[in-house]
Amino acid sequence: MARRLRTVRDLEVEERRVLVRVDYNVPLEGGRVVDDTRIRATLPTLQWLLERRARIILCSHLGRPKGQVREELRLAPVAATLSGLLGQPVRSVRDIVGPEAQEMARRLQPGEVGMLENLRFDPREEQNDAEFAAALAALADCYVNDAFGAAHRAHASVVAVARLLPSAAGFLMEREVQALERVLRSDERPFVLVLGGAKVSDKIGVIENLLPRADALLLGGGMANTFLRARGLETGRSLVEEEKVPEAQRILDLAAARGVRVELPRDVVVAPTMSAVSQRRIVPVTAIPPDQAVYDIGPETVRAYSAVIAGARLLVWNGPMGVYEVPEFREGTKGIAEAVAGCSGFTLVGGGDSAAALQELGLAERVGHLSTGGGATLEYLEGRELPGVAVLMEEA
Ligand code: 3PG
Repeated sequence: MARRLRTVRDLEVEERRVLVRVDYNVPLEGGRVVDDTRIRATLPTLQWLLERRARIILCSHLGRPKGQVREELRLAPVAATLSGLLGQPVRSVRDIVGPEAQEMARRLQPGEVGMLENLRFDPREEQNDAEFAAALAALADCYVNDAFGAAHRAHASVVAVARLLPSAAGFLMEREVQALERVLRSDERPFVLVLGGAKVSDKIGVIENLLPRADALLLGGGMANTFLRARGLETGRSLVEEEKVPEAQRILDLAAARGVRVELPRDVVVAPTMSAVSQRRIVPVTAIPPDQAVYDIGPETVRAYSAVIAGARLLVWNGPMGVYEVPEFREGTKGIAEAVAGCSGFTLVGGGDSAAALQELGLAERVGHLSTGGGATLEYLEGRELPGVAVLMEEA
């Protein structure tokens, strides 16, 4: 039986109280939001609801306060940022389902927006607690989930509450699911998988799920070192997950058996330590000095990967090619970002550093879909059903 995602278009929202779960888990510095991407990404849903004069009650988590109130994780700065983006007040309250929240929800007029306090200040959120979900549901007439980034968490505001109210996905959730489904189901070829980041262990599930359909696998970042070791190369003092070398070998064998082209770095940027940037140099991957570590891919690798990327009809990129937080080790990631932005096939990019590289270059608009999910995107690409998506599905 085919299934479809219920969306906000299926709900009656005019003048109703709509509880909207968002993922405003955004970076804060000195009490200010420093990256508002996730907030902006929810604006289409919020504006659509406001055009219908809904009364919006927003709820989100922020950080991992583990059921305790943590002053630095209050949502007030996030509400202030949203207010600026929407051009109207957002009333934030300092409790989640208590009297202040109930009063705010009751007084909210059509076309107004309020925001509950950080859901994870209450331990019942992460326990998917039925009573907590009922208290959230009691604030509203219907529920919209636009928090794709939290859809892999079976928490009360993601799963339990969706069963208690008429519920549907917001436009961001819908866009994310459509893009990921295209990657998982479409037969567009060549299909190119570009993976980076520190650890092989974070990406094994994705490789295993997508390798059978991929034409090429391009590897970078710290995880590539583990593959280099599996190929018998010396990696000096680089980060290597020793216990994952056999796993990397297994993936290389699997790829060879299926005729998948695997590209590992040809040249790399090395330095004695991450902070010794002035001593960095480019060496062939066969000549990594024993007292140095790899911190980025080199220009020849960028050229070779870019040629493969240019021919892709379908492409997934997740994870940086080097240590992105150090500006001197960003070139590889930026080179790949340029290649991905120039690819005429459908491109899906996930992961904070990949997105940051695209944004830094002003190329974010040039990719097919820039996912707001971290763990949620990876789990979807692993072929796992996300509880926050499953609960919004119905038989078509
Ligand atoms: C994220 O930032 O990936 C989501 O907001 C989920 O956060 P979590 O890993 O703390 O559940």
